[in-house]
Amino acid sequence: MVSLLGSPVINLLRVLFLGLSTLAPAARAQLELHVPPGLTRLQVVEGAEVVLPAWYSFRGEVSSGKPREMLTVMWFLEQEGKDLNQVLAYISGVLSTQPGVSLVHTMPSRNVSLRLQGLQEKDSGYYRCSVNVQDSQGINKGHSSKTLELNVLVPPAPPSCHLLGVPRVGTNVTLNCMSPRSKPAAQYQWERSPPSSQVFFAPVLDAIRGSLSLKNLSTSMSGVYICKAHNEVGSAQCNMTLEVSTGPGAAVVAGAVVGTLIGLGVLAGMVLLYERRSKALEEQANDIK
Ligand SMILES: *[C@@H]1O[C@H](CO)[C@@H](O)[C@H](O)[C@H]1NC(C)=O
Ligand SMILES: *[C@@H]1O[C@H](CO)[C@@H](O)[C@H](O)[C@H]1NC(C)=O
Ligand SMILES: *[C@@H]1O[C@H](CO)[C@@H](O)[C@H](O)[C@H]1NC(C)=O
Ligand SMILES: *[C@@H]1O[C@H](CO)[C@@H](O)[C@H](O)[C@H]1NC(C)=O
Repeated sequence: MVSLLGSPVINLLRVLFLGLSTLAPAARAQLELHVPPGLTRLQVVEGAEVVLPAWYSFRGEVSSGKPREMLTVMWFLEQEGKDLNQVLAYISGVLSTQPGVSLVHTMPSRNVSLRLQGLQEKDSGYYRCSVNVQDSQGINKGHSSKTLELNVLVPPAPPSCHLLGVPRVGTNVTLNCMSPRSKPAAQYQWERSPPSSQVFFAPVLDAIRGSLSLKNLSTSMSGVYICKAHNEVGSAQCNMTLEVSTGPGAAVVAGAVVGTLIGLGVLAGMVLLYERRSKALEEQANDIK
């Protein structure tokens, strides 16, 4: 970009353009709105404040003294799928703003930088500054606008850790981790805490989904596992204790229960049989009497 500006072709174009504009009638100084070179996008953490810098000048202005000028400044917020939102207006010396919005420099000033405080995720978007200047006779001296993109980032909220599966020797389980809020989306990392520290990587770790897959469990894999959710502006963590049991497997437990039930059934049957038999014997005895 910078090298392009210095290229001979661009310089030639510039000379041509300047040449033409000086031929233009009235040869008025041209209003130019500036933002810092190379700055088009600002990234700020939620809750913080930001200054969107912008100032204007007149190209080819002769007198450097303070000319009397009537200034109109407007800052708009453009968001995809939403109506244009005017966040600040300075018209005829009157300033009106939305909460948390102000100008950095007291008016009138050629520096029309915007300050935004208590930023929220919903303040993200394209901020367009529009400046219009008239001279003291009310003759238009020029208009210009510039846009800066603001991206409000959110550090990951504390994630929650979950275990999928039954941790028993020889089985597989998955440890899941999910942060409810993060912008951009959090990436996840699983670690095992000391004394048996261990860091996990793909393929057992899915850094996007936050899952850690542990196969063929052994008792030595028991311990505290920590998940870290992180993005550009922060991190948060949760942990969980994995206890790999050596106890009988689910199938074995189920089998034992079924076995017991059958046993009870048989027992009940025997009791019934015995009662019947003893009743029959009693009746027989009564008959004999
Ligand atoms: C205008 O104000 C902003 C914010 O205070 C500052 O960063 C910028 O350098 C100023 N511009 C000029 C030309 O002084
Ligand atoms: C555990 O994972 C291994 C390897 O992926 C697989 O072969 C096995 O069937 C899995 N065991 C269970 C109980 O799902
Ligand atoms: C599971 O682990 C045991 C001992 O740790 C090993 O003997 C066995 O081969 C492993 N099974 C699989 C499928 O990897
Ligand atoms: C696990 O989390 C609890 C609270 O969430 C915390 O008090 C504890 O220090 C953590 N343990 C480890 C090893 O990080």
